[in-house]
Amino acid sequence: MNMEKNTGPAGEGPVNPALRRPFDGHENWFEQVYTHANEDVNKVPWARRSNTPLLLSWLEGQRLRGSRTLVVGCGLGDDAEALAEHGLEVTAFDVSPSAIAWCRQRFHSSTVDYQVADLFQLPAAFERGFDLVFEALTIQSMPPSMHADAMAAIAACVAPGGTLLIICFGRQPDEPTDGPPWPLTREELERFRHLGLQEVRFEEHMEGGARLFLAEYSRAAL
Ligand SMILES: C[S@@+](CC[C@H](N)C(=O)[O-])C[C@H]1O[C@@H](n2cnc3c(N)ncnc32)[C@H](O)[C@@H]1O
Repeated sequence: MNMEKNTGPAGEGPVNPALRRPFDGHENWFEQVYTHANEDVNKVPWARRSNTPLLLSWLEGQRLRGSRTLVVGCGLGDDAEALAEHGLEVTAFDVSPSAIAWCRQRFHSSTVDYQVADLFQLPAAFERGFDLVFEALTIQSMPPSMHADAMAAIAACVAPGGTLLIICFGRQPDEPTDGPPWPLTREELERFRHLGLQEVRFEEHMEGGARLFLAEYSRAAL
């Protein structure tokens, strides 16, 4: 995979020298991107391309005040902050200690509980622990061989009666993928239904020539 060409896990150009390293799906790759950004948000491509507007328009139709909310792979924290401003009780985690330190610095009076954590080794308390789980662009930033385990770990955090909201780059099954990123097909997202969730909503949006999927699922109440 050639990181010199115009790619990164969110699909943008290599404005940060760490983006030129071959991507291996390993957590240290992300840590290097954050440290080499030298506190310049413009050098973190996925932070430049915020999903927050799509998230905010979804939130407008919801009655979620006070809900325990988890943000997966929160990056620089913009989506976590948007959810907290909506009145939600937000925990946000990322595998990169530098990203989490940066979130705490950017939003020093935030109510968000920022934590360093690996999606594949989450604290036991996260299991079925959240009324809303939100994930944007993290599954697709991993090689396809990791997608099933990532989806299982995310689904496991949804409490009975809870909601999972996913925003990701999408592709048709016949469209090739040579990531990063590795956009998901709708069929791949179907896996959440086999993980005990029901699909509530599926939307396809176009943003700057890229296909974005918004998918909402729920877990039956006890
Ligand atoms: C493409 S970025 C998206 C960040 C953020 N969700 C956004 O939309 O701006 C992917 C994020 O997932 C994080 N990540 C990658 N692997 C992870 C893992 N195993 N556990 C937790 N976070 C992970 C990276 O550090 C990075 O911040």
